Amino acid sequence: MNNFNAVIFDLDGVLVSTDDYHYKAWKQIADRLEIPFDETVNHQLRGVSRMESLHIILSHAEGRTFSEETRVELAEEKNRLYRQTLNQLSPTDILPGVIETLDGLEARGIAIAVGSSSKNAPFILDKIGLSERFAVIVDGNHITKSKPDPEVFLLAATKLECATANCLVVEDAIAGVVAGLRADMQVAAVGDASKSALATYRLGSIEELLKFV
Ligand code: BG6
Ligand code: MG
Repeated sequence: MNNFNAVIFDLDGVLVSTDDYHYKAWKQIADRLEIPFDETVNHQLRGVSRMESLHIILSHAEGRTFSEETRVELAEEKNRLYRQTLNQLSPTDILPGVIETLDGLEARGIAIAVGSSSKNAPFILDKIGLSERFAVIVDGNHITKSKPDPEVFLLAATKLECATANCLVVEDAIAGVVAGLRADMQVAAVGDASKSALATYRLGSIEELLKFV
């Protein structure tokens, strides 16, 4: 049994399936610009900021350059498309097992927090009815460096007043797993990231987390 005082959850792809909405919004833009974009490229976007995601997508547009102004416009367009889909979100979009896991952690007296690169995190948490559930929420509006930089998790630990060694991160992105490890935290991987050997724990479902706390 480990001595965790807090669990810090990533949002997109861990608490709610908005990772798929990110993909669909970027896909529309990449297709219009005739830039190759598939699930393999999409995996590299998980956990990284909007502008960094755009940078990765445009790096596949061989021989073409894009001005800073165009990049800003494309990022804004993506966010508009993404926000349209977010409007339909409701508590039914919370991923399976999440509520049971949050309940189980609270029953054990473990603090729960969100550590997300997304600037839309407050809006999403509101739509799915989880805004009030977390002791601390750190998102893309609070940080200057996105995952794999550990800033988001370090800031969450500071706000939680929890030593990093007593924080457990839950992530679906390799960039997020790396960020958690760099923050000197243990990391439980779900979804995509659970295929990687990097994570401390590799979960088949989010409820398995309760076995390690
Ligand atoms: C992360 C997603 O949670 O947020 C990334 O995994 C996304 O794919 C990033 O790029 C930034 O999101 P937003 O909502 O600020 O554009
Ligand atoms: Mg994620």
